[in-house]
Amino acid sequence: MKTYLVTGGAGFIGSNFIHYMFGKYGDAIKIINVDALTYAGNLENLKDIEDLPGYSFVKADICDKDAITEVFDKNDVDVVVHFAAESHVDRSIRDPEIFARTNVIGTLNMLNCARSAWERGDGFKEGARFLHVSTDEVYGSLTGEGTYFYETTPYDPHSPYSASKASSDFIVKAYVDTYGFPALITNCSNNYGPYQFPEKLIPIMINNVLSGKSLPVYGDGKNVRDWLYVMDHAKAIDMVIESGRIGEKYNVGGHNEKQNIEIVKIIIDTIKDMLPEDDKRQAHINYDLITYVEDRKGHDRRYAIAPDKISSEIGWEPETCFEDGIRLTIRWYFDHREWMDRVTSGDYQKYYEEMYK
Ligand code: NAD
Ligand code: TYD
Repeated sequence: MKTYLVTGGAGFIGSNFIHYMFGKYGDAIKIINVDALTYAGNLENLKDIEDLPGYSFVKADICDKDAITEVFDKNDVDVVVHFAAESHVDRSIRDPEIFARTNVIGTLNMLNCARSAWERGDGFKEGARFLHVSTDEVYGSLTGEGTYFYETTPYDPHSPYSASKASSDFIVKAYVDTYGFPALITNCSNNYGPYQFPEKLIPIMINNVLSGKSLPVYGDGKNVRDWLYVMDHAKAIDMVIESGRIGEKYNVGGHNEKQNIEIVKIIIDTIKDMLPEDDKRQAHINYDLITYVEDRKGHDRRYAIAPDKISSEIGWEPETCFEDGIRLTIRWYFDHREWMDRVTSGDYQKYYEEMYK
């Protein structure tokens, strides 16, 4: 039986990954979810699996050496899947320090604790793996048409968020090169799906359409992101853990580039189509909700992943096309209005008002 230590499992991608893993392996695995429960972490995301015998939760900060060491001491961990991070670019522009602390120092601490726990003579525990979950934003911004991010593309991060993730990637690589530490890195494009906190483009737009609020599009709305359904990312991570080569990095993306304004219009059209015709919200749902607002500082123009390596070496392919994925996502938000009400109460209101004033 494999034991996974998942950091940040109460967040968006981490909670989807835990669902994916129990859905696939059932009681043949153990998962210890280590999360500090920041504004982005929510145990409600794991309600339906919290009683599984293979699941346990530890509230801890990834920067806390004693707490993380205790998790390794109490459990015979085989795999670390490291999601925990500050993940929102806009917040990083306003408050960069916490990004350096969590994303850089936190990753360093996770590496140190895993290294101590796994050291055996001059090697490491048989089969141990440290999967560092990173982003395509480390590569910077694409300019030319038909250009893509490859694993060999030089890092050129622009935001405090992407700079902190790039730093953490370099530290992971340094542990591989220096100690022969059994780590791998995935660099994925923008995810969407259930449980995404409404500070990112897609859930903010879904929530605002449903509540009749304006839809804040930054700049000219023509920035391009490469969108991947979150369960396809979860599948990629599992496959890289199983079949990836130690020390390698794998780009993950679904060839689904869209301008932000296209995404916003698709959301408006799809919600209109999915709501019953006599739903009273139909009257206010139209493109007039779109409001162009001041551009993000240092806004990257285009991200696009070449997933050739993970496809040819590991056999990963995305399964969910955007048309299906966005319907599944919107359906989830329709059915979880109380989740949205809870996560948008309290501090969120203040964040939203300051961000979109
Ligand atoms: P998220 O913000 O939804 O979740 C982050 C989780 O980490 C939360 O549960 C939070 O409580 C936890 N956390 C934060 N600081 C912590 C700390 N100091 N100690 C312990 N836990 C802490 O993020 P997400 O969107 O699920 O992203 C997860 C990972 O995937 C991140 O590393 C991110 O860089 C990467 N990633 C995200 C995307 C995307 O589109 N969202 C794309 C590619 C890669
Ligand atoms: P986001 O979801 O924050 O992801 P990232 O910045 O990590 O790619 O933003 C996706 C794109 O949407 C990005 O180009 C910024 C833009 N955007 C808006 O236009 N309005 C918004 O309210 C938000 C949150 C993002």
